[in-house]
Amino acid sequence: MRILGKIWRLRRKFTTAPVKSIILATFLLIVIICSSYMGIFTHFQEKDYYTEFSYPLDVDLQPLVKDMVVGKVPSIKPINMFNYTYLKLCENKCSNKPKLLFVVKSALTHFEQRQAIRQTWGNQRRFSDVEIRRVFLLGTGFDPDIQRQIDLEDKMYSDIVQADFVDDYRNNTLKTMSGFKWAVEHCPSVQFVAFSDDDMYVSTKNLLRFIRNPSNYPEEEPLPRIVQGIEHRERSLKQEIVSATLEEEEEEIHDFSNLNQDSKLYAGYVFHSPPQRHQPSKWYVSLEEYPYHLWPPYVTAGAYVVSREALLELYYGSFYTKYFRFDDIFLSLVSLKVNIEPVHCPEFYFWKKSYSKDGYRNVIASHGYGNPNELRNVWNEQKSAGHA
Ligand SMILES: *[C@@H]1O[C@H](CO)[C@@H](O)[C@H](O)[C@H]1NC(C)=O
Ligand SMILES: *[C@@H]1O[C@H](CO)[C@@H](O)[C@H](O)[C@H]1NC(C)=O
Repeated sequence: MRILGKIWRLRRKFTTAPVKSIILATFLLIVIICSSYMGIFTHFQEKDYYTEFSYPLDVDLQPLVKDMVVGKVPSIKPINMFNYTYLKLCENKCSNKPKLLFVVKSALTHFEQRQAIRQTWGNQRRFSDVEIRRVFLLGTGFDPDIQRQIDLEDKMYSDIVQADFVDDYRNNTLKTMSGFKWAVEHCPSVQFVAFSDDDMYVSTKNLLRFIRNPSNYPEEEPLPRIVQGIEHRERSLKQEIVSATLEEEEEEIHDFSNLNQDSKLYAGYVFHSPPQRHQPSKWYVSLEEYPYHLWPPYVTAGAYVVSREALLELYYGSFYTKYFRFDDIFLSLVSLKVNIEPVHCPEFYFWKKSYSKDGYRNVIASHGYGNPNELRNVWNEQKSAGHA
């Protein structure tokens, strides 16, 4: 108490007018430095996204994209060519006209995660009536031992697509576009492509439910009775055959005849958010790089799904959209320019949704499953419960 009293008296003694203004000035300086560091002044200089937005190339992309889709030479030369050399190509992956393709962005050394994905949501034989394919996307590294292991892994599972860019988070857009290119060129008959990271939980069953009816997910419309009856009979017949042959397979109970194949679906967790102007941030973006106060609506990169039509337009649109190093932002810029509106679904969790058996009933994807055993446990429980 006596010390406090002393400080109090000292304070009164020293806080004469000049000292006060020095303290005030120092305080203001600190505030200014901090605000500048936090990027607050940068925010004042941003352009208005709603009224001033434009992004190179400033041309109508739609006719160019249309030409490229049908194989014509477009009237304007592309500004990006994603010229990869693929070291591993998985050439015959899609010979059976799959309905759904998983393209999983994976880090070179994540052998365990890939194995867990093969055994869980990436299982190509999950359903007897839905052809599913899976590939892992890799760049290249510098360690020959790791490469030898990857070579072996690919011999064993034939599911590695590897292109010749340095596998580094700064090359994220290159990695994602290597997946787009591969899917366009080597999986031409697939209807839907789901892109995912290798630390995600995915429910293939719910993903298929979502694809069937994106705007109403997770509402279930009951099937008409007659169809149900027929389906049921067909199903039990098929199931007998299936259980006689393959233990793993299960019938996907949903009718896919009403899949809207022509629509341009680009769906996941959609954000409407401003660029990060906080300088030390990993996601810092300068005004030179992107001057507007908001990003276009973007689908977070952890897990999302595109229909074939959207895949083609995003891929060819990417040739005419100035490169951006964040893949989700780059795709959002392309989608804006080719006029595809991203569809938001909150069941694609970009964070880790805390687990409970029933709480995961409608989850399509959740981040935070970098631990292979945890992924197996959660997925197995959800599969038994009929939700994966
Ligand atoms: C990509 O390939 C095209 C045609 O082969 C070539 O003209 C172009 O320069 C290449 N671009 C890059 C970045 O290598
Ligand atoms: C990928 O990232 C590295 C930095 O880690 C960079 O040196 C390289 O030029 C990038 N691009 C390619 C095509 O690998």
